[in-house]
Amino acid sequence: MSEGTKTTGLLGWIDDRFPLTKMWEEHLSRYYAPKNFNFWYYFGSIALLVLILQILTGIWLTMNYNPSAEGAFDSVLYIMRDVNWGWLMRYMHSTGASAFFIVVYLHMFRALLYGSYKKPRELLWIFGMLIYVALMAEAFMGYLLPWGQMSFWGAQVITSLFGAIPVVGDELVTWIRGDYNISGVTLNRFFALHVIAVPLVLVLLVVAHILALHEVGSNNPDGIDIKKNKDANGVPKDGIPFHPYYTVKDLFGFGVFLFFFAAVVFFAPTFGGLFLEAPNFQRADPLVTPEHIVPVWYFTAFYSILRAVPDKLMGVIAMGAAIVVLFVLPWLDRGPVRSIRYRGLGYKVALTLFAIAFVFLTYLGMQVPSDEILGLTVTTWARINSVVYFGFFVFLWVYTFFGLEKTKPVPARVKD
Ligand code: HEM
Repeated sequence: MSEGTKTTGLLGWIDDRFPLTKMWEEHLSRYYAPKNFNFWYYFGSIALLVLILQILTGIWLTMNYNPSAEGAFDSVLYIMRDVNWGWLMRYMHSTGASAFFIVVYLHMFRALLYGSYKKPRELLWIFGMLIYVALMAEAFMGYLLPWGQMSFWGAQVITSLFGAIPVVGDELVTWIRGDYNISGVTLNRFFALHVIAVPLVLVLLVVAHILALHEVGSNNPDGIDIKKNKDANGVPKDGIPFHPYYTVKDLFGFGVFLFFFAAVVFFAPTFGGLFLEAPNFQRADPLVTPEHIVPVWYFTAFYSILRAVPDKLMGVIAMGAAIVVLFVLPWLDRGPVRSIRYRGLGYKVALTLFAIAFVFLTYLGMQVPSDEILGLTVTTWARINSVVYFGFFVFLWVYTFFGLEKTKPVPARVKD
């Protein structure tokens, strides 16, 4: 690769003291990304946009929010009704939470399509998974803050799950809540964690995620290593500079995303009770339990797995395992080919079933367990889909470890 650009004037003065141009070139204007990125490659940058939106709207919400059991619910009403543009900040933030998960789920699915978690991107994947876990913690704690009925009872149910852990369970629950019940003390600590501790961790993890990505280079829909084919200047022949080519592409993606985002914020902020649940418009009342306690949609796939197992401890273990198994995915999948385009039929079928099971579990988690769908109870369906969910990983290991996969030849250069 050619030498970095020599700068003069003010920029030169800065560059002599701080690697501004160097970083710009390394990560943007001379970062060569594969030229065949498609639709699926929008979601990383959109996730970054949503992260920034959440932090900004969160800062403005914090200016008028009151983190106490007595004041929280009323302060949210105050933000909605009296604070200038408060309703917009709140609806952008609540819609942003769901948008974040939609975008991140699509982003993760892309990795499954193109084998982006495989060598040498294992650590990049691990950072991604840590982001995902931090994001779940962030959303869970944020949901307590409006101090509505679902905030209170959702937190009650989820924190009580730790009680299933033998020996230390009960003490652990009290330690997490800071009280024998969910109370103003819990609200206060969740507020501290939600507004500063977890966002800080998230931002640091995202930086590590992108540094890891730029160290190994982006994968692509063909799953080909573009670094293997370089020109005389050391530039990958199938690569194009990230800036301006992909900055422009990503700006277009931002436009399309914001179009849908604005439609929800302005016309359907509760999204039919999916993004903001109806009981959460009622003040938290420790004496009145809502009829159905259901987490927000982005947690319900895992909630379904939890409810599918009759024993509480085993349910908690199954739910945890559903997330842990994703961490070890790079080591379960031993297949030599990355992209689904050149993988065996078995992988294509298994991934399709896995995706359907995940969506179905998400739906099932919002239903009453004893209700019936096509003659089977929600619980039975949850069990079937949980088996498919875990079955995917078992199949993938057997399929690739014993060399059962019949792959197609991978071309030397990217196709499109
Ligand atoms: C705040 C959340 C996240 C942000 C801001 C983020 C950001 C990004 C960006 C900007 C890229 C490069 C562009 C792209 O490939 O789309 C990327 C790539 C990637 N991310 Fe994320 N990410 C996030 C969460 C995750 C999660 C939860 C996972 C998986 C568990 C993940 C796994 C990956 C992988 C495997 C790649 C490389 C893809 C490839 O080269 O084919 N990311 N991420």
